[in-house]
Amino acid sequence: MKTFKCCLKYSLQKKVFVLFLTLWLFSLLKLLNVGKIFFPERDIYLVEYSLSTSAFVRNRYTHVKNDAGYDINCSAIHEQEPLEIGKSLEIRRKEIIDLDDDDVTAMTSDCKIYQTLRSYHQKLVSREEKRFPIAYSLVVHKDAIMVERLIHTIYNQHNIYCIHYDRKSPDTFKVAMNNLAKCFSNIFIASKLETVQYAHISRLQADLNCLSDLLRSSVQWKYVINLCGQDFPLKSNSQLVSELKKLNGTNMLETVRPPHSKVERFTYHHELKQVPYEYMSLPVRTNISKEPPPHNIEMFVGSAYFVLSRAFVSYVLNSSVAQDFFIWSKDTYSPDEHFWATLTRVPGVPGEIPRSAQDVSDLQSKTRLVKWNYHEGLFYPSCTGSHLRSVCIYGAAELRWLIKDGHWFANKFDSKVDPVLIKCLTEKLEEQQREWMTLSSGKKNHG
Ligand SMILES: *[C@@H]1O[C@H](CO)[C@@H](O)[C@H](O)[C@H]1NC(C)=O
Ligand SMILES: *[C@@H]1O[C@H](CO)[C@@H](O)[C@H](O)[C@H]1NC(C)=O
Ligand SMILES: *[C@@H]1O[C@H](CO)[C@@H](O)[C@H](O)[C@H]1NC(C)=O
Ligand SMILES: *[C@@H]1O[C@H](CO)[C@@H](O)[C@H](O)[C@H]1NC(C)=O
Repeated sequence: MKTFKCCLKYSLQKKVFVLFLTLWLFSLLKLLNVGKIFFPERDIYLVEYSLSTSAFVRNRYTHVKNDAGYDINCSAIHEQEPLEIGKSLEIRRKEIIDLDDDDVTAMTSDCKIYQTLRSYHQKLVSREEKRFPIAYSLVVHKDAIMVERLIHTIYNQHNIYCIHYDRKSPDTFKVAMNNLAKCFSNIFIASKLETVQYAHISRLQADLNCLSDLLRSSVQWKYVINLCGQDFPLKSNSQLVSELKKLNGTNMLETVRPPHSKVERFTYHHELKQVPYEYMSLPVRTNISKEPPPHNIEMFVGSAYFVLSRAFVSYVLNSSVAQDFFIWSKDTYSPDEHFWATLTRVPGVPGEIPRSAQDVSDLQSKTRLVKWNYHEGLFYPSCTGSHLRSVCIYGAAELRWLIKDGHWFANKFDSKVDPVLIKCLTEKLEEQQREWMTLSSGKKNHG
């Protein structure tokens, strides 16, 4: 009896101690996120399941089972069927794992294998498209797999692609881009690379470097389009060609009379300054006024993203008016957002938009759709993905709207926000290209 009593007392203390220890250990494990190590497949969704579990990538997830419950029917996503949209929302609650830069490097290290993996040989193209080559200037800095997906979607053998990556980019990203470019004779890295600073002339210079290389290439492209790594097309190549033909040589870009809030971007001298607590430099306004622009140029503002005719690009790279304007723009804020918008309004330039013509707003310009959160519900339905600095990262419920909207490209897409949307958009574009080929082969038009 006595011994029992003693032990009961001891064990009570012990129990309390063990309870505390357990609680402490539990919170520690939770803190260290150990659950994911012990139960890895619980919350994981692999964006590229077959690649991520294959030997073609560096970081393998062979232990992750493919959950058939998450096979998505993209037609149903397009039809906005609640059950299918629901599935996409469930996927978004998981830990979404996409290929990282090292995986892209591994996957592109053998070009033959890479091209087979991504079915480049299945790309369909008509004779009409071949007669209308398009050039692309891709100014990118991170997330190799998103760039790879973009290029894969817009790729055609007769088009030409320049990649400009930031000198500040991680080496893993640069290696992935170099590898990707090496696999195609019509994809190349810009011959001159910039350290791109936000809102600085270096952003504009990056595009100019690509444009200059593109003009020197042997491909006689008709139009050039610039894109970034978070962009994606909303049209198939055949649709894009038919839209570009309708332009009849004019440029397509946002160009509006400067609102009051943007005037000081180019009426004051700006200096590049380190922003405290952030690893970035920004052009900061000084109190020194700038001279008006040279050659009586009238200022317009717009977007850094454009669709420009070949003749206009030649003009920009050759004319002294454009060159003087570039030099004058060096100490302005975000010159990429007024350089193209202004030059396309200069009287007599190829592809000119007359100065007297009305503003071309970002919604009127078909170049690039960006959904700003303060215009949601007003100009377009609400964002179903998430936001980054007031810009919508699209979600699967917007697929139908994105395709119907009429823009040619859109920003922003992120596989970590909604992998289903990107997958389904890609599928839809391939389907449209196939349909177009069937139609045009009926007309004996394919080459
Ligand atoms: C996918 O969804 C569409 C539209 O709801 C439907 O017609 C089709 O049968 C579905 N396909 C499959 C394989 O379930
Ligand atoms: C296309 O441009 C040419 C020359 O710039 C012009 O002569 C022609 O009228 C234009 N066609 C249409 C349909 O606007
Ligand atoms: C500009 O600012 C500097 C310091 O901030 C000041 O010393 C100078 O007087 C100012 N110049 C003008 C023209 O306002
Ligand atoms: C641009 O200028 C160079 C020489 O300065 C010339 O060789 C080239 O033909 C010009 N290109 C165009 C399209 O005007």
